[in-house]
Amino acid sequence: MSGASTAASATEASKTGLGKGGISVESLTKRFGDNTILDALSVDVLPGQTVAVIGPSGAGKTTFLRTLNWLEKPDEGSITCNDVTIHAGDEDSRLLSQFRSKSAMVFQHYNLFSNMTALGNVSIGMRRVLGMDRKTAEDKAHELLDRVGLTDVADHYPSQLSGGQQQRVGIARALAMDPEYILFDEPTSALDPEWVGEVLKVMRGIADDGITMIVVSHEMRFVRNIASRVLFLEGGHIVEDGTPAEIFDHPRQERTRQFLSEAFTLPEQQYR
Ligand SMILES: Nc1ncnc2c1ncn2[C@@H]1O[C@H](COP(=O)(O)OP(=O)(O)O)[C@@H](O)[C@H]1O
Ligand SMILES: [Mg+2]
Repeated sequence: MSGASTAASATEASKTGLGKGGISVESLTKRFGDNTILDALSVDVLPGQTVAVIGPSGAGKTTFLRTLNWLEKPDEGSITCNDVTIHAGDEDSRLLSQFRSKSAMVFQHYNLFSNMTALGNVSIGMRRVLGMDRKTAEDKAHELLDRVGLTDVADHYPSQLSGGQQQRVGIARALAMDPEYILFDEPTSALDPEWVGEVLKVMRGIADDGITMIVVSHEMRFVRNIASRVLFLEGGHIVEDGTPAEIFDHPRQERTRQFLSEAFTLPEQQYR
């Protein structure tokens, strides 16, 4: 169920939309100086898919995620999310903010405001970006903190929270923006092993709710058990695209096989 062939093209999307959370990336190229990091990369993501992006360090995984909400501007190509298409070079600020409002990002190092409580971190975007009044935003923030299991620490500052709790605040903050898709950049890789499980549990809940997720992760439990699809990124291209079972048990490309044996053997043994 790779879905790559079944999503509507970006052209059709401009008329009908891809569906909430559907994404179509067309010939996306990103260069840093002379280095081509993404090389005419194309991929379609269906509404509700949970996509793991794997690949060696420096492959461009972070760059790819950042282009998906235009934090990084591509040099060529276009991205459609549901009913909004943006092309490289587009500068229209209304279009940019419309596009950006489709997604939210969860970072490896949480990126919380250290001078705000958990409640403040979750509600600030709803107030500043979505224009909610304080009461409405804080009520919603309490609901979201409940959802990620942090009811009791709403008034704690990041320094008073464990890594796992901080990342769950990061996830609640992303949910607060009511995005069509959430981009996660190695959300568990900075965590002590004891906190990984609680973050994965929250991520599974989001996947089950049908929100599209694109997750850069080498966390075997996530990739194997939660992701519906795996993309192996290397050399600016998607080298392989399939279900976790296809990628792990029957990789078609020798390069995928090599990468998996180097990157995934150890964690799998650890977590068994
Ligand atoms: N802002 C930047 N300026 C110049 N080079 C960058 C920048 N960001 C990333 N790169 C380079 O792009 C390549 C891909 O980086 P990145 O997307 O972070 O890879 P990954 O997340 O897969 O490890 C690396 O060679 C990195 O050094
Ligand atoms: Mg990275």
